[in-house]
Amino acid sequence: MRPAGPLDFLAVDAALARFRARHAIPAEFAAWEGSFWARHGAGEAPLAYLAGDAAAFVEGSRTHRVVLYADPGMLPDLIRTLQADPAVHAISLSDAGDLPDFRVVERWEHRFDLRFAPAEPAPVHAPLAVEPWVPGRQADAADLLSAVNATTVDGLYLTWPDAPTQETCARVLAGLTGGSHGTFSPDVSFMAFDGDRLVGLTLVALEDAEVSFLFEIAVAFRYRGTGLARHMLDRLKVALAPRGFKTVRFLACGHNAAVQALFRPEEVASRALDRGFVWIRG
Ligand SMILES: CC(C)(COP(=O)(O)OP(=O)(O)OC[C@H]1O[C@@H](n2cnc3c(N)ncnc32)[C@H](O)[C@@H]1OP(=O)(O)O)[C@@H](O)C(=O)NCCC(=O)NCCS
Repeated sequence: MRPAGPLDFLAVDAALARFRARHAIPAEFAAWEGSFWARHGAGEAPLAYLAGDAAAFVEGSRTHRVVLYADPGMLPDLIRTLQADPAVHAISLSDAGDLPDFRVVERWEHRFDLRFAPAEPAPVHAPLAVEPWVPGRQADAADLLSAVNATTVDGLYLTWPDAPTQETCARVLAGLTGGSHGTFSPDVSFMAFDGDRLVGLTLVALEDAEVSFLFEIAVAFRYRGTGLARHMLDRLKVALAPRGFKTVRFLACGHNAAVQALFRPEEVASRALDRGFVWIRG
């Protein structure tokens, strides 16, 4: 195993070609395609591990991004090396085989049928007030996202592969409002306030004329169980259904009972399971 040092891109390309030809185990391919190259172009030198038929590329020390291609036979050695590097904070694999310490994560993609939109949103209780997205409160939204997601597996995916800090949440928010997941829709993305304090939010992007994407729904801990999420979700449905939207797409981990409870069985147009394996330091 050869840790660190500048990347030999010819060797990397050759390794990747071999991995693809052998149906090697990919992880974080999207990062490899996009941000890896962008960051490298910006002069942020990645660490690299190359060992025969296994390779991993760990982006700069601030982002701890892991991009991994490995032949199954080389995987244990590669994973051990990555885990020994304190810069690596999480690793995601499509198949972890017998590797210890990897947790199975089941992520569901739900599509909800907007024919079941209620006539009226469920009420929101005073002193709480819910308003369409307030751009000037985006930093508060990043704070809330960071607090709510700090200890959840869904949170890990929100800012994957980085921890959901205020900074990484702000980056994801800037991406989303800038169009990273479709056209951000401030009129059906809501903010809930207790006085001036932001205590809940939804983030919604429009994918096409019929499908909207509920990117996130979050309520601060002490405001949970009061119907805030139900109200924001109803407002979304009530606004979108008359505009010709047919479904809401939403991703959530299988164990997230609170989220699963937000949608009633009859509303579910389809569900698809994406099963992955995640190792998180500590
Ligand atoms: C999911 C979440 C937004 C729910 O917010 P909330 O304001 O507490 O939800 P509500 O009070 O509006 O409750 C909505 C429904 O879910 C049910 N529910 C809420 N929390 C629940 C829990 N922990 N277990 C089971 N059901 C739950 C309620 O009984 C209610 O059902 P009903 O309308 O049929 O009576 C909140 O728990 C949260 O922010 N979780 C962390 C963030 C997250 O995981 N987001 C989704 C990933 S993208």
